[in-house]
Amino acid sequence: MKKFNKSFLWGASSSAFQIEGAWNEDGKGESVADFNSFKRSKIQADSTVASDFYHHYHEDIKLMQEMGLQVYRFSIAWSRIIPDGDGEINQAGIDFYNHVIDDLLAADIVPFVTLYHFDLPLALAKKYNGWENRDCVIAFCRYAEICFKCFGDRVKYWQVINEQNLMIRVDERMNLWNTPLEKREQVRAQMDYHMFLANALVILNGHQLIPDGKFGPAISSTMTYPATSKPEDVWGAKMNDNFKTNYALEMYCYGKYPGYYLNYLKKIGVKLNTLPDDSEILATAKPDFIAVNYYRTLMAQYLPTDNNHSLGMRRNDIDFDLYGYFQIVNNPQLKASEYGAQIDPLGLRLVLNEYYHQFRLPLIITENGLGTADKINKQGEINDQYRIDYLRNHIVACYKAIEDGVNLVGYCPWSVLDLLSSHQGFKKRYGFIYVNRSDFDLKDLRRIPKASFYWYQQVIKNHGLKD
Ligand code: BG6
Repeated sequence: MKKFNKSFLWGASSSAFQIEGAWNEDGKGESVADFNSFKRSKIQADSTVASDFYHHYHEDIKLMQEMGLQVYRFSIAWSRIIPDGDGEINQAGIDFYNHVIDDLLAADIVPFVTLYHFDLPLALAKKYNGWENRDCVIAFCRYAEICFKCFGDRVKYWQVINEQNLMIRVDERMNLWNTPLEKREQVRAQMDYHMFLANALVILNGHQLIPDGKFGPAISSTMTYPATSKPEDVWGAKMNDNFKTNYALEMYCYGKYPGYYLNYLKKIGVKLNTLPDDSEILATAKPDFIAVNYYRTLMAQYLPTDNNHSLGMRRNDIDFDLYGYFQIVNNPQLKASEYGAQIDPLGLRLVLNEYYHQFRLPLIITENGLGTADKINKQGEINDQYRIDYLRNHIVACYKAIEDGVNLVGYCPWSVLDLLSSHQGFKKRYGFIYVNRSDFDLKDLRRIPKASFYWYQQVIKNHGLKD
């Protein structure tokens, strides 16, 4: 048996724009995530209705209780609380999250709130070009303080920003698509810096306002294998981890960028606008935990510069290549999901070991899951054995990481119910609970627990795996 400690928290995750729907109801403002989803409205579902959690939250939380969830990680939509990001407060938004939090507590489920999950209020993107401007930091700190004051009596676990280290790579998520290419890396680096600063200020304020609260970032984890044993490839693989994740962890935990990152900024001619007090703010704000989102591993090799590509030039988006450093290649040792994520439970054990032994902070997994199509059979059931296998293997990896000495305190797979996948709409499902809709047909939005729901219920009840 693989039994976990009784204090280990079993949960599940979601994010606002991917489940709530009601995108403009009761005063909610449009977010960058809405805007981007509407650009795809003709090819897949958008955030208009999503899983309609906004109108189903009561019944959904009852199902979470039936599953036995001990913690639910979800996000608050900034533009539901402050529709234009830094103006009037929308009481209806506060009321909604009060209902959700109260329902969770009544069901004995710990609320674990993310303040910002890819959904910057669109008005701030228009007004300030979002995070490029320091005023966006001020707006975020105000929003966070409003949340702390409204919900902090009941919410003690706060994730400040979801996957800043991934979001910053995606031009669309940062609203960077209209920034001229020659300015893009300067703007991107400035936005990234401002988000680190915002994270630090919010953690400092959170510790003041909610003394028994715990605050931390959620990181999109990266584990990169070298394509060969050539030292250049091993270095390239390490730099891929460094540029995509480790530089951010260093900033969160130690308040400074590492030398390799500063050198890179210098080489590509980026100069950050900072203020004298920033370094102290960044150094004193200490996270209480690191939340880890894990789906897959990568493989990389060294990518030399050439006549047309100078040092530090980027190629591609999310899993970008960097000239003079690394290039992502396919790993023939691993099977991938139909959407290309290379499935690798052992990679999770490696990631947990690396982050814990480097930063010595409690870790909690806030995302891990298999995105794939599900089918309802004639009996009206969804037998998602493939998802059970995926989750089981990753839970074994967690168990082994704990045996290795990692302080892993909880596991919240993605996702509690089917939701809007950012790039594949409703075709790609992650949930324990099926939502009866397709990309273009809302059907009855009925909730149907999948086989994985009943399996996870037993895992929670048994505090782990029986075999
Ligand atoms: C994570 C995000 O990066 O990956 C989630 O935090 C997202 O919001 C998840 O849904 C899975 O990615 P996708 O593209 O399948 O939705």
